[in-house]
Amino acid sequence: MIVLDQENRIFTLHTKHTTYQIKADQYDVLLHTYYGPRVDGADLSSLIQCAGRSFSPNPSQAGTNRTYSLDIMPQEYSTCGVGDFRLPSIELELPSGSHTCDLRYCGVQKQKGKYTLNGLPAFFAGETEAETLIVHLNDAAAQVMVSLYFGVFEHLDLITRAVKITNVGEQPVHLCRCASLCLDFLRCDMDFITFNGHHLMERCLDRGPLRSGIQSVGSVRGASSHQHNPFVMLCDHNADEDIGVCYGAMLLYSGNFEAAVECSQYENSRLVMGIHPYHFGWTLEPNGSFTAPEAAMVCSPNGFGQMSRQYHRAIREHLLREPWAGQRKPVLVNNWEATYFNFNADKLTEIAKEAAPLGIELFVMDDGWFGRRNDDNAGLGDWYVNTEKLPGGLEALVPRIRELGMKFGIWMEPEMVNEDSQLYQQHPDWVLCVPCRNPARGRGQLVLDFSRKDVREHIYGQLKKVLSSADISYVKWDMNRSLTDVWSAALPAGRQGEVYHRYVLGVYDMLERLRQDFPQILIEGCCGGGGRFDGGMLYYTPQIWCSDDSDAIDRLRIQYGTSFCYPVTTMGAHVSAVPNEQNGRVTPLETRGTVAMSGAFGYEMDLSKCTEAEKQVIRQQIETYKARYALIHQGDYYRLANPFQNSGYTAWEQVSPDKREALVSVVLGCTHAAPPFRTLSLKGLDPKLNYQADGTGPLYSGATLMKAGWPLPQVPGDYQSFQFYFRAVR
Ligand code: GLA
Repeated sequence: MIVLDQENRIFTLHTKHTTYQIKADQYDVLLHTYYGPRVDGADLSSLIQCAGRSFSPNPSQAGTNRTYSLDIMPQEYSTCGVGDFRLPSIELELPSGSHTCDLRYCGVQKQKGKYTLNGLPAFFAGETEAETLIVHLNDAAAQVMVSLYFGVFEHLDLITRAVKITNVGEQPVHLCRCASLCLDFLRCDMDFITFNGHHLMERCLDRGPLRSGIQSVGSVRGASSHQHNPFVMLCDHNADEDIGVCYGAMLLYSGNFEAAVECSQYENSRLVMGIHPYHFGWTLEPNGSFTAPEAAMVCSPNGFGQMSRQYHRAIREHLLREPWAGQRKPVLVNNWEATYFNFNADKLTEIAKEAAPLGIELFVMDDGWFGRRNDDNAGLGDWYVNTEKLPGGLEALVPRIRELGMKFGIWMEPEMVNEDSQLYQQHPDWVLCVPCRNPARGRGQLVLDFSRKDVREHIYGQLKKVLSSADISYVKWDMNRSLTDVWSAALPAGRQGEVYHRYVLGVYDMLERLRQDFPQILIEGCCGGGGRFDGGMLYYTPQIWCSDDSDAIDRLRIQYGTSFCYPVTTMGAHVSAVPNEQNGRVTPLETRGTVAMSGAFGYEMDLSKCTEAEKQVIRQQIETYKARYALIHQGDYYRLANPFQNSGYTAWEQVSPDKREALVSVVLGCTHAAPPFRTLSLKGLDPKLNYQADGTGPLYSGATLMKAGWPLPQVPGDYQSFQFYFRAVR
């Protein structure tokens, strides 16, 4: 609910459990007065205290009042060069060469429904599902208007934000920085939580207290990156899964980003999140505008679990688009770890033949089917079938797979090119490269200049031809290197700062076209696994390959970290062979199934090498997964044990919205002689209902299972796992 108090110029956004408030003050400065657990009916600017502070200047309107300073008061969208020395949200270079920006309130609007953003991913909503607040600010000297957009999803505790900058003057203005979110707190006694890692180990939780100065994470790799995720949190020092106030901030963006928190001199803090300012610049011609990508905040008064569940619901219901939001996604088998580049039509058909009777529904042909792609030094850019491997092309192969009762999917990496390709021979000028410099290679490949429409047009033409040539149900859209040598032949020197962002817009444009032209195709995002796992991609690709590390035990950490923001339905997760291809670990097949099942489930192994006993286990896993699909994918997710802290076991749980069903998954660590007896407390059940585990045995009330717990069995052997299915019987 949005409450506009026009007289006092106080704008309050209420969600079910939280309140966010903004106030335009006596000098038309837009103050941020509060964000936190819900409070009703108050003017929270009373929380802001003023006192004269040396070296914190006073705006000229304040006259002789030395107690008023932008440097001390909480700002809704921070500026620079005019008195606030903390993290700026916006930086302009004016025609005079000045780098100042001074914004003043000039109007407000409220609308039913949720605003939309042209060409950018955004949460969506029907007319009655959300409301929009738009606050207009103006820098009269710079002749720039700034509109702050807020989308309020009341029942989800979700507040989205976007920013539009418009040049209302007659000369071009240069935008050097434009954050999506600025969040000021009158405190800094909080922890900053970020999700970090590297290729093969993404989104590991890192937590530490705020300290004086600036702490930040970000990416300048052109993609949101394996190293840091565009989702961060701030929370009470004592917050955990169930208690404490915590704030999540998510950027729906797949390129360079920065999330920075500053703990300032008087123990206030400010979080600023948006496109990374490194090599960012945008020229605003007269009447031109720039829209910063959307950010989305959730505040939970009751710990991390509630925050995650609100994000999960919001993403499932308002970010993932049809048809896949409401439809069961097929169980797949992918040939990558089974064959790498070394396959032909017969080998693929052999794997598919084994897969179909096990209940697998989609066969995915990974890298290596096109051009001269026999290893990773050649072929990217030549998106036509290698008929030596696949005689008769997809026209011959796909019907063979379809006849087995399976759908067919294909791998692509459209943003890249190998020098050893026809495309590069014909268009060497289509890659990102700096004049007079040889561009760096990554995995032996160069990056196509996707900021250019002509380049995208050509690649899209090739993709469309392939996808129209056969009955294709799935595309894995990969991206296997970071961007370097970012310079576009299509833009003048003064506008090269636009290339990184135009590249991302180009990727979104291609994905949107693909969605429009092939609505039945399920697109899985990928970037060497989880190097572009963000809310921006999820708008186009409803699932993303979570990591190239398919080891079940490493995956416990990766999927745990990922779950803080993103729901399990978005996490591509496969059972692979042992010893594991990435780390050599041997885990039981059952455990690999338990872990992958909490995701967009599939297999990535040569099924023709499985024994009958293994096939029986696989058949059973797929049956369980299909039977529990709604519970796993739509249920409320509870983290029960943290794999970073608990070496004994990791556990998580999905509970159906009516609380009548729960699936509890537990994976033990390495085995020890005489292990301790362990009891696991469940969460999210109805205390009054009586539950039975796996359809047999005594009944336990929800209260008992949550307070007293459930005994974990002891089994010898490393990395054993269990799944318990609880159902309310009365
Ligand atoms: C990336 C992906 C893998 C696989 C290979 C193919 O690394 O993450 O799953 O598709 O590319 O080259």
